[in-house]
Amino acid sequence: MIELKNVHLAYSAAGRSIPVLSGASLSVAKGESVAIIGPSGSGKTSLLLVLTGLETPDSGSVIFDGLELHAQSNDARADLRRDKIGIVFQNFHLIPSLTACENVALPLDIAGSDNARVRAAELLERVGLGHRKDHYPNAMSGGERQRVALARALIHQPALMVADEPTGNLDNQTGDAVADLLFKLNQENDATLILVTHDPALAARCQRQVRLHEGQLNLVQA
Ligand SMILES: Nc1ncnc2c1ncn2[C@@H]1O[C@H](COP(=O)(O)OP(=O)(O)O)[C@@H](O)[C@H]1O
Ligand SMILES: [Mg+2]
Repeated sequence: MIELKNVHLAYSAAGRSIPVLSGASLSVAKGESVAIIGPSGSGKTSLLLVLTGLETPDSGSVIFDGLELHAQSNDARADLRRDKIGIVFQNFHLIPSLTACENVALPLDIAGSDNARVRAAELLERVGLGHRKDHYPNAMSGGERQRVALARALIHQPALMVADEPTGNLDNQTGDAVADLLFKLNQENDATLILVTHDPALAARCQRQVRLHEGQLNLVQA
């Protein structure tokens, strides 16, 4: 479903080039679950940005559903993300003027669905935030915001779910509930799951673990 081929990416900062991805390749089948592990600063977030088309690699290609992602127009890439990809970033990107429920409902509202609020409330219930649905993001803890962001990313039942340390701010019990939801949707909807995590137990729940090291991806033997 998604394939990275020999991707290179470097940032320039303070007049210097910082290589982040140096020939990264990865192929993920529909319905598969893959954990990406690696130390802080190794380029995991950059990798997720490239594979969702939010960052353009210097060279190499990203094929999503048979399409070369970076050969598409910005609009076409945005449409693809909206329709097929659910992304949860580390900094959540919630809209402060909308309640939790409104934030979660937003992708469906935009798509013109008429039961967006009902679906949003259900999903918030599933991540343990039913009682917080009418609260605004700035009145919530980091872990609560993370779960709102997760619910928003999943509400349109994306074919590809991408999550950057989805349990990073959560206590064990809540983290398990969030992971359960991701794997349930992975199985029920045959949705592909790619997640970045520092938690070995979460990584082990994925079918495959790959380590980002010196800009390249290597399979971790089970
Ligand atoms: N926009 C940027 N400009 C310059 N350097 C960046 C930028 N984003 C990330 N970096 C650098 O690229 C490297 C990889 O970052 P990142 O992908 O966030 O790693 P990880 O998610 O594994 O912690 C780090 O050294 C980081 O400082
Ligand atoms: Mg990161």
